[in-house]
Amino acid sequence: MTKPTVLMMGAYPDWDMPALEAAYDIVKYWEAPDKSALLKQYGSKVRAIATRGDLGTDKSVIDQLPNLEMIGCFGVGTDGIDRTATRPRGIKIANTPDVLTEDVADLALALMLAVARQIPQGDVFTRQGLWAKNNLGLVTRMNGKRCGIVGLGRIGKAIAARAEAFHMPVSYYGRNKQDAAGCKYFNSLTDLARESDFLVAILPGGADTAKMINSDVFDALGPDGFFVNVARGTVVDEPALLDALETKKIKGAALDVYWNEPNIDPRFLTLDNVVLHPHNGSGTVETRRAMGQLVRDNLAAHFSGRPLLTPVD
Ligand code: 8YV
Repeated sequence: MTKPTVLMMGAYPDWDMPALEAAYDIVKYWEAPDKSALLKQYGSKVRAIATRGDLGTDKSVIDQLPNLEMIGCFGVGTDGIDRTATRPRGIKIANTPDVLTEDVADLALALMLAVARQIPQGDVFTRQGLWAKNNLGLVTRMNGKRCGIVGLGRIGKAIAARAEAFHMPVSYYGRNKQDAAGCKYFNSLTDLARESDFLVAILPGGADTAKMINSDVFDALGPDGFFVNVARGTVVDEPALLDALETKKIKGAALDVYWNEPNIDPRFLTLDNVVLHPHNGSGTVETRRAMGQLVRDNLAAHFSGRPLLTPVD
């Protein structure tokens, strides 16, 4: 029997490949030196795409796949998959929610602690032998401070639970007020920022939320406030964030995501009040194994005529 053809947009962990290659004819988009020749050769055969949250898939690619039926996304955020190309054709999308929730929430708390307690600076200080001559200097406490969460979805709630364990009063901003015991709702993002010591972004990316966290929000967060982003770079007005960091309008930031990943704005590299992390919220062995399995389970469900396990839209 012929295997369905699946176009992979980017690399998955090595351990996913044997199972994928056993079930499908895999076409590796990212390895092809001439993408347009690849799509000309295989475009009409492709029935599914396997992409990643950080890669998505552009309309220009989808439009060259006339027999595309579904897209499996290794990641929860599907904002990079162009819906103007998928919706009119009824192309199904599946993502990998839940399996990554706890690890992304862990990273959010790690980044909050890293920027407030200056953990990267402490590491450099100790390695460089400066400890014998000097002190690191005093840092900022996190426990008991006010935590503002932008986007109280599954990951936002997991961040809230962890913040509460640090005795942090939790507030949130989102489209709707939720039944979230103990968390105060703000229907204005700047009001939330004004009432936060740590403002944590974990809202979906895409056009609806683009540049939502802007200079007004950083003004409201103020000179003692920290900003943490484990969502998407697009939710931030990045030049406004860089200005806020350079002028000390806010105390600091810790970032897992950026506008132009992985080639981030070099202005970030000169700042000592920002902790930089390379988009790795879901990047544990345990979670990445579960994400790969869920992508495969969704592909298998689709090709055996069953409903997707974790459909999007
Ligand atoms: C990426 C993510 O998928 O879940 C998401 O939306 O952005 C990540 O988990 C990761 O970069 C996979 O490569």
